[in-house]
Amino acid sequence: MDGNGRWATERGFGRTWGHREGAKRVDEIVTECCRLGISYLTLYAFSTENWNRPSHEVTMLMRLLVHHLKAMDKKLLRNKVRLVAQGTLNQLPPYAQRELARVIRTTEIPEPKLNLNLSLSYGGRQEIVDGVRRVAQKVLSGDVKISDINESTFREYLYQPLFPDPDILIRTGGEYRVSNFMLWEIAYTELVVTNVFWPEFGVTAFHETLENYAKRQRRYGKTNEQIVCEKQC
Ligand code: IPE
Ligand code: MG
Repeated sequence: MDGNGRWATERGFGRTWGHREGAKRVDEIVTECCRLGISYLTLYAFSTENWNRPSHEVTMLMRLLVHHLKAMDKKLLRNKVRLVAQGTLNQLPPYAQRELARVIRTTEIPEPKLNLNLSLSYGGRQEIVDGVRRVAQKVLSGDVKISDINESTFREYLYQPLFPDPDILIRTGGEYRVSNFMLWEIAYTELVVTNVFWPEFGVTAFHETLENYAKRQRRYGKTNEQIVCEKQC
């Protein structure tokens, strides 16, 4: 969800305004995912690198997060959305950790329509390192054999083992980079970069990115002919 700051400064406002507008789009896109029947959505809200921003911006973002969490749970429950979060969550200020834990608890419903994963203080490399540490611990305790570690068993040590790998990654704000986001999980994800800044990424822009995705052929290393044949058979 990139481009909040540029969107605001281009209009002669402070970055805070961009973050506030951006937060409104989160609500709309989540609702639209429910309407479309999308069952997994991960949002990159705050990265491990974002801690390096000026402290007043970090504080403002944390307050904005808590403000939205406080208002969020009723609507999430109405739409059958279950909230989870990923990242080094213990680095968040205690008031944000408490509020996040509360909404996660409240939305722990058995059959959610949408699983919403908030990435906070999140880094893709950190996620892999955390997974390696956990599996190494299991090897040390004798619960896991080194020869049993492979791509599919290691996947279980990542932050959200129950989430499938993403089909599509949408980056708003026009930058062609991944910025440490879900490095393991996006190995075969379709990337869509749009120049639209996040605060103006509404439902129409979202539909356009989905249409862009729908036109693609996912080959997973195979040839075009193989894919066409598989579809016809
Ligand atoms: C994304 O917008 C929001 C967060 C990282 C929290 P930015 O704040 O990165 O906006 P730009 O890239 O400066 O425009
Ligand atoms: Mg940015």
